[in-house]
Amino acid sequence: MYQVPQITDSIYYVGVNDRMKALFENMWSLPQGVAYNAYLIVDEQTTLIDTVDVCYSDIFFHKLDLILQGRPLDYLIINHMEPDHGGSIGLLRKRYPELKIVGNKKTFEMLRGFHGITEGLHEVKNGDALSIGGHEFSFLMAPMVHWPEVMFTYEQRKRVLFTADAFGSFGALDGILRDSELGDRSAYLREMERYYACVIGKYGPFVQKALANMDKQGLAIDHLCPAHGVVWTPEGFGEARRLYDRLSRFEAEDGVVILYGSMYGNTEQLADVIAQSLSAAGIKRIVCHNVSKSDPSAILADIFRYRGLIIGSPTYCGELFTPIANLMNLIRIRDVKDRLYTAFGSYTWAPAAVKKLIPFAEEMKWEFVGEAVELKMSELSSVLDLSWALGQAMAARLLAPKG
Ligand code: FEO
Repeated sequence: MYQVPQITDSIYYVGVNDRMKALFENMWSLPQGVAYNAYLIVDEQTTLIDTVDVCYSDIFFHKLDLILQGRPLDYLIINHMEPDHGGSIGLLRKRYPELKIVGNKKTFEMLRGFHGITEGLHEVKNGDALSIGGHEFSFLMAPMVHWPEVMFTYEQRKRVLFTADAFGSFGALDGILRDSELGDRSAYLREMERYYACVIGKYGPFVQKALANMDKQGLAIDHLCPAHGVVWTPEGFGEARRLYDRLSRFEAEDGVVILYGSMYGNTEQLADVIAQSLSAAGIKRIVCHNVSKSDPSAILADIFRYRGLIIGSPTYCGELFTPIANLMNLIRIRDVKDRLYTAFGSYTWAPAAVKKLIPFAEEMKWEFVGEAVELKMSELSSVLDLSWALGQAMAARLLAPKG
């Protein structure tokens, strides 16, 4: 007999899977879909944590009806207002006019802006508590992870922490609710990394503050419930937390991303020579991304993963190749830190691309490695040794003892 999935005997999973949308935030690919997680706690007073994208509100309300069986919904706790979670709040309030909405000052500014709701609000601050009978909630503010109103909600009795987007991932829940049920945890963690690079990316310092706040509270956690992806149990949470800690410190592995654009294959020849040179020097993890073909979210995920970044571009209308300029902007607005960087490029009559690539190191406060290489038309033989030297210089810098 069908049952709504449960986290504990009184906490239900009422989220939905979205396998229809092609792009998350209309930018990031969703090959395995995405889940919008929401949780319903049944006690003397019934309490919902977050809602779902409005496209799925009917399915979501049906789940609530199955559990509530005609009981009213007393509280909605809003951990995050972004419309993939807050999208159904307006409709929810219409279904439950007496619903009290719990959030912080910033939440309520957004609640007014997105849904025109200004009444029936219960404002909380960091450390505040709320009892709904047997369950006791406390609230931890987590601003800018990755919106200003974000907060985490901790339920003390069942030791469950609800964390909005933090520790979330792309990927619908294909019948699996907990990390302990995953068949391939490492593939899941890669998707989590891609989600982080695309969605949270820039806000590492704020993630660090949120992690410190969690530690300071000394929370005992049996289930960690994010707003996307699987629920973490103690079995997998340590690994997920280490990944989050690493990503939010912009700490990366000793590998290299060669990101290039190429209109007729000349710049691509340099990318291949540099990759061979890196490999010959002992670098084991090398990823070449043709910017016109690779998924931008996969490129960003690899840039978060590896410490070396080499960008190549042809000169186009006296500028950088446009897809390279666009991708550099995605890197720029994420304020990616502590990368080893170098550049290469090509031109036909007026060299411009390399001149524009070199200052990116200073702008991003990265170390520029070796000498940039620039190819004129197809005169590859004139830059083969220089390209090889560039790969050797990057490898030497990556493999040098740290500290
Ligand atoms: Fe999943 Fe920031 O919304």
